[in-house]
Amino acid sequence: MNICVVGLQWGDEGKGKVVDILAEDSDVVVRYGGGSNAGHTVVIGDERFALHLLPSGSIRDGIVCVIASAVVVDPAVLIGEIDGLKQRGITLDGRLFISENAHVVLDYHKREDQLREESLGKQKLGTTIRGIGPCYADKVGRSHAVRMSDFRDLPALSEKLRTVVAYKNKVLAALYGAKPLSVETIAESCRRYAERLVPLTTDTTRLLHQAIGAGKSILFEGAQGSLLDLDHGTFPYVTSSNSSSLGLPSGCGVPARRVDKYIGVAKAYTTRVGAGPFPTEQDNETGQYIREKGHEYGTTTGRPRRCGWFDGVAAAYSVRIGSVDSLALMHLDTLTGLKELRLCRAYEIEGQEETFFPANVDRLAKARPVYEGLPGWDEDISRATTFDELPTAAQDYVRRIEGIVGVPIGMVGVGPKRSQTIIKP
Ligand code: GDP
Ligand code: IMO
Ligand code: MG
Repeated sequence: MNICVVGLQWGDEGKGKVVDILAEDSDVVVRYGGGSNAGHTVVIGDERFALHLLPSGSIRDGIVCVIASAVVVDPAVLIGEIDGLKQRGITLDGRLFISENAHVVLDYHKREDQLREESLGKQKLGTTIRGIGPCYADKVGRSHAVRMSDFRDLPALSEKLRTVVAYKNKVLAALYGAKPLSVETIAESCRRYAERLVPLTTDTTRLLHQAIGAGKSILFEGAQGSLLDLDHGTFPYVTSSNSSSLGLPSGCGVPARRVDKYIGVAKAYTTRVGAGPFPTEQDNETGQYIREKGHEYGTTTGRPRRCGWFDGVAAAYSVRIGSVDSLALMHLDTLTGLKELRLCRAYEIEGQEETFFPANVDRLAKARPVYEGLPGWDEDISRATTFDELPTAAQDYVRRIEGIVGVPIGMVGVGPKRSQTIIKP
């Protein structure tokens, strides 16, 4: 069974936790897009892991971990993660493979990301400043791109970097008055990265097709969320990759028909970090309640996340474009204590009721949520292990989301720990 886990909202839905759970029955776990802008949290007992580039399956011993072609790799972050896990007794020796075609995030990408955001003032996108946009731009532009395979020939890479860094220095100085970056320093860090990462670099498309041929179970781990998809999300307030499950085939060279099941992860409410329209946002006491109770602060940047009611129009759209079979609904426990809950089942746009999500931001900005009110619950649900143990109001809330989104919910999260996940019949 090959499964794809994908976020249905604007990221941080709890994909890390779901992947960790499903990894138990998988042989291979693959990251197919994004970069260190992702922050995936896994909590096992009192131990907390926050992963940015390594697939969340990494912490399970023996599982093969793949970083596929469409991931943009920040080598410093990756090496830091590998070493960090090793210090905690988890070794990736012989089981981590990085695509030779994956593009490399270097210092000038992060610098450009930061300077551009600063220069935009109020118009900024609110990126994670991890160099993601500039690195993907170099990939599409081709001539300045650096790929993992370039680490195999350091003299050729140094030669290339001389051209690229000279170009970046000119542009960044002209646009932002930035001080030049030293090509020697960047080339020297590449030598260190190459030493560590070349032995792990391979043709991961071949590896994955061999695994499929051998009948192995592959788990594909989406990063970000479907609404941050470059082509199908709320552009320009998106990331620079196809972060919906539509990015899986191009991201790792495995056709969509080889995936048996798509599991969409959503929170029982909605969050967003960074700028862009958010129809169900609650910039008020309710939003503040959710933020504090759900610890809604970014895993990667620590920024407070914007919080709001569950948006059924947005989730149903992500389900449609993502071919999602079932939902994993996280953070139900975070809603405990709210008197009345609201679910957005439609938008009103220019006087018309609309249930198909308009990804175009100009249209989305005009959307007024049409809510249904449901009663809340006060009981502590964080120890519930079966769906039947949940208070009736909580069960009704989950069932109503199923009704609005149109697919069954298979998992319900009642706390951050691996063990705090109900498998719903
Ligand atoms: P990801 O990017 O989709 O992997 O999600 P993040 O790790 O960025 O953010 C999800 C946060 O919610 C993490 O801190 C998780 O530990 C936490 N979390 C996941 N599921 C639940 C849940 O069901 N209840 C609560 N209270 N926390 C959860
Ligand atoms: P995970 O995998 C939440 C958001 C940023 C910003 C926009 C563009 O943890 O769910 P970028 O740095 O990618 O150019 O930023 O996308 N963003 C995320 N938001 N979770 C993520 O990843 C995100 N990755 C990027 O906040 O709004
Ligand atoms: Mg996250």
